[in-house]
Amino acid sequence: MAQNAAPRGARTMAQKADRHVLYQRSVQCAESEVDFVAEVYGKLRRRRPATLREDFCGTALVACEWVRRRPGNIAFGVDLDPAVLAWGREHNLAALSSSAKSRITLLNEDVLEVRTRPVDVVMAMNFSYWLFKTRDRMKSYFRNVRAGLAADGMFFLDAMGGFDAFRVLRERTKHRGFTYVWHQAAYNPVSGDFLCHIDFSFPDGSRLPKAFTYDWRLWTLPELREMLLESDFRKVTMYWEGWDEKKQKGTGEFEPTEVGEPEAGWIAYIVAEK
Ligand SMILES: C[S@@+](CC[C@H](N)C(=O)[O-])C[C@H]1O[C@@H](n2cnc3c(N)ncnc32)[C@H](O)[C@@H]1O
Repeated sequence: MAQNAAPRGARTMAQKADRHVLYQRSVQCAESEVDFVAEVYGKLRRRRPATLREDFCGTALVACEWVRRRPGNIAFGVDLDPAVLAWGREHNLAALSSSAKSRITLLNEDVLEVRTRPVDVVMAMNFSYWLFKTRDRMKSYFRNVRAGLAADGMFFLDAMGGFDAFRVLRERTKHRGFTYVWHQAAYNPVSGDFLCHIDFSFPDGSRLPKAFTYDWRLWTLPELREMLLESDFRKVTMYWEGWDEKKQKGTGEFEPTEVGEPEAGWIAYIVAEK
């Protein structure tokens, strides 16, 4: 809820803000995700992927990027929340050409049950699938993904970790016009339960606390690989971000590896092949 920090009658920056716009600007980078998928799929399958299912699609930013990329591309976006799909239709799909729009379908369904025609790629990004907290629930999701893939299809996920992931903390990132705050509010080492929020704050002092809340389990890469293999994926590869010594930051390029670095915080991609 927007907190008041403006003179009486004037609307604060938080009150005027749209949390989905802020989320897309601070969390998502649809172009680089689609670049990564196209590059890895092309390398491993020697052809371009054409059909995509974006699970937990929210505003369907990635599905929109997919159909915009190439005239033959087709995308399905799946989300349980009709309100976020309506926002995506009004803002993201509406901005597409009529050809691109005709190649995207939003489905108000559960990723545990959804069925489309077989797709080349399923994506589950920004750790959304961590809301499945038991191995049984996670594996039933993974099995449904596998069943939805074409014979040579690939499943792309991301994961985060590092020793800071197990801490309660707030991490602030400045963007033009607002600050994004990643808030790890609670972690229970016994259950693995991991409660996080995204807050936004603004130059006029107003805030949007808990604009988004995630009640997750903090999974690790070996656990995720085990569950994917137990769900009958043939091969599971971890992609780790390169490090730029000069700039002392990640390169944004991800390479397959069996050895990661024990850093404070990292994000990795997981690629599971049917
Ligand atoms: C963190 S958002 C993901 C937004 C965006 N796709 C991204 O990568 O950043 C998670 C979304 O998952 C949706 N969701 C949660 N459980 C789901 C389920 N069982 N099936 C489909 N969507 C679900 C929520 O409605 C929410 O929009």
